[in-house]
Amino acid sequence: MCIIIASPLQNISPWIRAIQKVDSSIEVLSLDEVTDQSTVEFILAWNQPPGIFAHFPNLKTISSMGAGVDHLVKDKSIAPPVNIVRIIDPLLSQDMYEFVLATIMSQLRMLPMYRENQIQKVWKKKLYRRISDIRVGIMGTGNIGAHVATKLTEAGFSVVGWGRSPNPSPQGIKKYYGMEQLADFLRSCNLLVSLLPLTSETQGILNYNYLKQLPKGAWVINIGRGGLLVDDDLVQLIDQGHIEGASLDVFVTEPLPDDHVFWSHPKIFVTPHIASLTHPDSVAAQIVENYHRTKLGKPLLHLVNRLLEY
Ligand code: GLV
Repeated sequence: MCIIIASPLQNISPWIRAIQKVDSSIEVLSLDEVTDQSTVEFILAWNQPPGIFAHFPNLKTISSMGAGVDHLVKDKSIAPPVNIVRIIDPLLSQDMYEFVLATIMSQLRMLPMYRENQIQKVWKKKLYRRISDIRVGIMGTGNIGAHVATKLTEAGFSVVGWGRSPNPSPQGIKKYYGMEQLADFLRSCNLLVSLLPLTSETQGILNYNYLKQLPKGAWVINIGRGGLLVDDDLVQLIDQGHIEGASLDVFVTEPLPDDHVFWSHPKIFVTPHIASLTHPDSVAAQIVENYHRTKLGKPLLHLVNRLLEY
């Protein structure tokens, strides 16, 4: 038995090295190197070619190469007995927090504006806002969201959370939950951080009607998935002066197409899905553990609930 990596858009050598550092007896192959598909029971996948899983009759486990699993849940070639697992990594959560903090601080202290002014040789001071002026709303209070919320609170921000269910929130953080409390949650924060998983329920949740509930002048950060956001609605609310601007790291189509309005909008900041990158060395042990559990028929770590889609 071996681990197959189905991720055609990236260099998989660091993944092979990291897995073999944990267990040198495991053969790790790319999709193209598979000769007998019936022997494959475990696949590691990211941006996999559509429909590939149907070619593996004895597949038992598919592991995402990241925290998100929307690329797997939506793939209809995965038969129900096949288990989907995801990565849960404290380093990934910390990276997300550091990205959020950097983004918020850069906006609060207007660093992009000063860079523009430097290019124009303009010496002009503007009054800045402070951490104490910001009430952050975290949408998605799972592993990553809870970590981001806790760290932002420690940094002095006032933080509220919103999630699908009333699961306990990190200490000291008021939690709103369910669609019936979403508008109240949005009204209560002036900086929104979207960290939700993309599911049939959350698709397009950041639309005109909900985003309009944010107070005038709010900032939006989307580091969950592009499909959560209705792009035109965000642009409309920014152009109307209701939302001040947005920092977007994830998009419906990635790479972001050349002709997309986000590229040139003066109040939208685009980054290429780098809020956190999975480090193969940090997550290889849990992948190897799930590989062995698959072989032994034992319960898997970080199993995805196929009904909830995350
Ligand atoms: C990144 O987007 C991930 O899901 O890990």
